[in-house]
Amino acid sequence: MAATLAGLLLYAGLCLSSASLSPRRCRKPVPLLPSVEEHWFDQKLDHFNGAESRAWKQRFFINDTFYDGGPVFLMIGGEGPANPAWMVSGTWLTYAEKLKALCLMLEHRFYGKSHPTEDIQTANLRYLSSKQALADLAHFQTVMTQKLELNDSKWVVFGGSYPGSLATWYRLKYPHLVHAAVATSAPVYALINFIEYLEVVQTSLADYNPECPKAVKTASDTLVKMLKNKENYAAITKDFRLCEMLQINSEMDSAYVLETLAGNFMDVVQYNSDNRAFEGVKGTNITIQVLCDIMTDSTFGTPYNRYAAVVHLMLEALEMKCMDTSYKKYVQEMTNTTWQGTAADGGRQWVYQTCTEFGFFQSTDSLNQPFSGFPLSYFVQQCSDIYGSEFNFTNIISAVQQTNEMYGGFNIQSGRIIFPNGCVDPWHALGIIEDLSDELISVYIKGTAHCANMYPARAEDPPQLVAARLYIFSLLEKWLN
Ligand SMILES: *[C@@H]1O[C@H](CO)[C@@H](O)[C@H](O)[C@H]1NC(C)=O
Ligand SMILES: *[C@@H]1O[C@H](CO)[C@@H](O)[C@H](O)[C@H]1NC(C)=O
Ligand SMILES: *[C@@H]1O[C@H](CO)[C@@H](O)[C@H](O)[C@H]1NC(C)=O
Ligand SMILES: *[C@@H]1O[C@H](CO)[C@@H](O)[C@H](O)[C@H]1NC(C)=O
Ligand SMILES: *[C@@H]1O[C@H](CO)[C@@H](O)[C@H](O)[C@H]1NC(C)=O
Repeated sequence: MAATLAGLLLYAGLCLSSASLSPRRCRKPVPLLPSVEEHWFDQKLDHFNGAESRAWKQRFFINDTFYDGGPVFLMIGGEGPANPAWMVSGTWLTYAEKLKALCLMLEHRFYGKSHPTEDIQTANLRYLSSKQALADLAHFQTVMTQKLELNDSKWVVFGGSYPGSLATWYRLKYPHLVHAAVATSAPVYALINFIEYLEVVQTSLADYNPECPKAVKTASDTLVKMLKNKENYAAITKDFRLCEMLQINSEMDSAYVLETLAGNFMDVVQYNSDNRAFEGVKGTNITIQVLCDIMTDSTFGTPYNRYAAVVHLMLEALEMKCMDTSYKKYVQEMTNTTWQGTAADGGRQWVYQTCTEFGFFQSTDSLNQPFSGFPLSYFVQQCSDIYGSEFNFTNIISAVQQTNEMYGGFNIQSGRIIFPNGCVDPWHALGIIEDLSDELISVYIKGTAHCANMYPARAEDPPQLVAARLYIFSLLEKWLN
């Protein structure tokens, strides 16, 4: 996938790793900081089968610089390699300094260097689930408590995006272990057809300039029409700098092209102005403003030409030569079951989790959004194409329902959880954006995107973001006293 505009939407260890909640839009691999020491934990393969004794090595990191008898902070890893950049900066460390906390980060099973099985063939991925990941956390915490003699310490978990959901569910399912949770940009409700995602993208673009989503709609409608006629393929290939000559042999092929192009906008909106550069992410200066200024500027030509100009800009920002829009190549990469394959970066594993637990498919099935051509059926078909025909609509629907039965969806029966969310971030649509009680607190931040509060503070942070970080700290301080 070296050449896709891969975007790390919820497949990026969400916030903490180098991928975030998006399947194939994987950007170039983020350079991980090598200087932080890696530690390895003997973890069980299957927590729910007493007759299964196989074990594997799970990676974790420690920062004890500030520890002086305070609480233990545990950063939960997500759907990508755990990025050690978080062990040396990030807002949680400023909280740790004030509270004299010990900081740990546990990588999620099947991501990064945490390999429970010898490969990632579909049969082995049955050990990949949020439920197993929560049990990993519980076993890790129990053993570390003994080993480091942390018997009297209160544990606080942190997570952003999918790990934010895990933080919520860890507090919910293991209340005897964890005292409080900060669940940033956490989708707590599993949903197969996540049409709200693109609705928020539309709103976030329109908030900057109402003409922007209109131009996007004109451009994507034009493309849909053009894709129906083979005579246009050479022009589209050239205009959008595709890596190979466009070929459309099925609805899946055209849906993949349209989704990849929409992905530029989805990524930029999701991470708009987030301080991700410290993690090594490129192109963070491309914002909603930059894209919309192009989409509404007729000197770039028609809306179709402007849509292409956005691709050129993104390619330059990400230092990539061309756009990969071949569904066939995507499926080929996603069905590579070795740990060396490009999709083992997290794409194959995360899409498996969406097909077996969450859905979260960001389809164009709503009328209130500007893109066209990638309906729910396209995502469901991907599950079958990549993992096998039993990963079909009926089974996905039932799996998603089971996830909500297990965790309660929006009905969270717990306490001492903070839910920060950004208004600009499409994921807030599946998150908690109003207080549920005086111990289930929403911190809904105007004008910010995915996980903004977790990144290191900057001088240009808006005052509401500064205030949100302080408010989160004041709640933790209160709950730990
Ligand atoms: C822990 O974090 C602090 C604050 O960023 C940093 O100065 C220190 O080097 C880190 N310690 C370790 C052991 O990584
Ligand atoms: C902590 O708990 C472990 C196991 O329950 C026990 O062996 C150990 O003595 C305890 N340590 C302290 C300092 O209380
Ligand atoms: C973004 O930054 C890159 C590299 O620093 C620069 O080449 C590019 O012009 C910038 N783009 C915008 C739109 O600011
Ligand atoms: C899987 O990916 C690896 C690394 O890129 C490659 O060497 C191998 O040939 C691929 N396997 C298949 C079956 O494509
Ligand atoms: C989905 O797959 C299951 C096998 O897991 C099969 O029994 C069922 O008939 C399939 N449903 C459809 C609609 O194809």
